[in-house]
Amino acid sequence: MRPTVFVTRPIIQGPLDRLAAVAEVQVHEGDELLGPDELRARVAGIDALFCHLTDRIDDALLEAAGPQLRIVANYAVGYNNIDLEACRRRGVAATNTPGVLTESTADIAFALLLATARRLVEGDRMVRAGQFDGWGPQMLLGHEIAGKTLGIIGCGRIGQAMARRARGFGMSLLYTQRRPLDGDLGRELGLSYVDLDTLLAQSDFISLHCPLTPETHHLLGRAQLARLKPEAILINTARGPVVDEKVLVEFLQGKRLAGAGFDVYEEEPRLAPGLAELDNVVLLPHIGSATFETRRRMGEMVVDNILAALQGLRPPNAL
Ligand code: DGY
Repeated sequence: MRPTVFVTRPIIQGPLDRLAAVAEVQVHEGDELLGPDELRARVAGIDALFCHLTDRIDDALLEAAGPQLRIVANYAVGYNNIDLEACRRRGVAATNTPGVLTESTADIAFALLLATARRLVEGDRMVRAGQFDGWGPQMLLGHEIAGKTLGIIGCGRIGQAMARRARGFGMSLLYTQRRPLDGDLGRELGLSYVDLDTLLAQSDFISLHCPLTPETHHLLGRAQLARLKPEAILINTARGPVVDEKVLVEFLQGKRLAGAGFDVYEEEPRLAPGLAELDNVVLLPHIGSATFETRRRMGEMVVDNILAALQGLRPPNAL
């Protein structure tokens, strides 16, 4: 009998064809997300789950799927939506998609940095609203990038790709994470390792690239945000809950921080009250990896992981 794979949301065309050659592929069509009850009902009896960061994969879901489930394969590099311990207990492999979305996500982080610093979205709104009356000596003054310091929190693949971009724009680079980078890598990228407090106090721009874990939840809370320079700009393309969004709004309103560029939110897709009313923020709808090329590569990677698990092999991106 052919194994069954359930795909929780439709994805870009192509990658599922290889799966369909060996398995019964059921895709939840339509734009609306499956709620926890519906998802539990749909996974009963499946062999592999192709899931998204919008799906909560917990013990109850694994129980509902049944003991034949081999793998939950996430279509994302982040996997904070998966209870890894529950997967381990039940012998279900869990996988993610590292490496293939590095450049596209760093592009969005750097685009947010530029857009926030140079007030691109405000300018666009102004022109569209017919409020552009011609060049003005004090119109939409922003912050220069060259010569400024970027602080990178979490310097894995995406953080390093951000560093390469920032270097090209003449920025100085600080980074922090649990341990310094190995060997000469930090030196090659022009990165200096510092502790979090130093990074917050010395950076003009701060970009988050760490995973969401219990340790990084509200890593930037009131005490940490208070350390930032009033002219600092915060960029988040990692995960919303790394920042205490309510406190951030308070700081932005009080001009204790110059601006923020966000692609992710604490209670996604809901925004903290007041955030959308601020002029000094640029807000994107979680599109870090949203290019045709990246989404196709992510799909191929998920399929590779599922095919390996269905053959009884260790998936290449096992967590
Ligand atoms: C990820 O992969 O974790 C991104 O946030 C979404 O593609």
